[in-house]
Amino acid sequence: MTGRKSFGSDNHAGAHPEVIRAIADANTGDSHPYGDDEWTQRAAAELTAAFGACDSLLVLNGTAANVLGISLLLRPYEAVVCAESSHLNVDECGATERILGNKLLTVSTPDGKLTPDLVRSRLTGRGDVHRAQPRVVQIAQVTELGTCYSLDELRQLSDFCKAEGFYLHVDGARLANAAAYLGCELADLAAGVDVLSFGGTKNGAMAAEAVVVMRDEIVASGPFHRKQQMQLASKMRFTAAQFTALMEDKLWLRSAQHANLMAARLAAGIADIPGISIRYPVQSNAVFATLRPAHIADLQREWTFYVWDEGENVVRWMTAFDTTEDDVDAFLDAIRASVTK
Ligand SMILES: Cc1ncc(COP(=O)(O)O)c(C=O)c1O
Repeated sequence: MTGRKSFGSDNHAGAHPEVIRAIADANTGDSHPYGDDEWTQRAAAELTAAFGACDSLLVLNGTAANVLGISLLLRPYEAVVCAESSHLNVDECGATERILGNKLLTVSTPDGKLTPDLVRSRLTGRGDVHRAQPRVVQIAQVTELGTCYSLDELRQLSDFCKAEGFYLHVDGARLANAAAYLGCELADLAAGVDVLSFGGTKNGAMAAEAVVVMRDEIVASGPFHRKQQMQLASKMRFTAAQFTALMEDKLWLRSAQHANLMAARLAAGIADIPGISIRYPVQSNAVFATLRPAHIADLQREWTFYVWDEGENVVRWMTAFDTTEDDVDAFLDAIRASVTK
């Protein structure tokens, strides 16, 4: 990686100094392990209050958060309907299939978002003993394509799930960015949802995600599933301290607002550069753009970012809590120079 700010992923950023401080503050003497400590209790209280949730379970990464969240909702012969482009389907090495043994029923989408009609297209075979039975609808908020479900779209999906007897699971690895974009509360994003994850890592934590449980009847089994899935950290206080830092004075929101603002600045700067087009609406901290392969290769010599779709020459540029205006402007200068060479 070059010394310049990476536009590869919000995962490339370090941890927020306030998170590191909270970890250091928690590093005082002994404490009970496995979540039986004051930091975990405080984080749980703050998370359940913010979401209006029944419980929360801390884990160490987003894949585990998805697998654990879904495991609370499924029987062995049931299936998850999700977007073809979902992290769950593409980027988790088949964890749900391997660890839980449940089938994923994928749906192609234009923008990473499921709709009731798109879900309906995968419902053939319900009641047929030869087919895995759809039971969970899984969406990501923000989606893997940087788009957000509006509150109305969320309501439509949750009404649909209720009417059909499905559970709704939300992969919220970037839920903070969605709340920042929509200008809503975390509880608004959880309304009508059964289980969701709330990502800390992409928002300035270093290894902290929360599984937020919105249904009373699955609360009791949660800790057992987490332990069996090897996500019960013995020194949980250090995971929890990251969340107490994020929740304090809404650091999570300030960081997400900043990251989104930097992506908006990048998108606005691109608008008047010829030969580049924005691929999806910029509704979070990601900008997807199409440009010629020669320009992509030229830029990648100096800057770090991913080609999202090689066939269609789509790149993904992501910002983080610590991306500065100068970082964005320097990158825009480089894009302009490359494209107009
Ligand atoms: C939509 C989404 N979900 C979940 C994750 C978390 O994955 P990991 O297991 O790498 O923490 C990511 C990370 O890139 C993501 O983009």
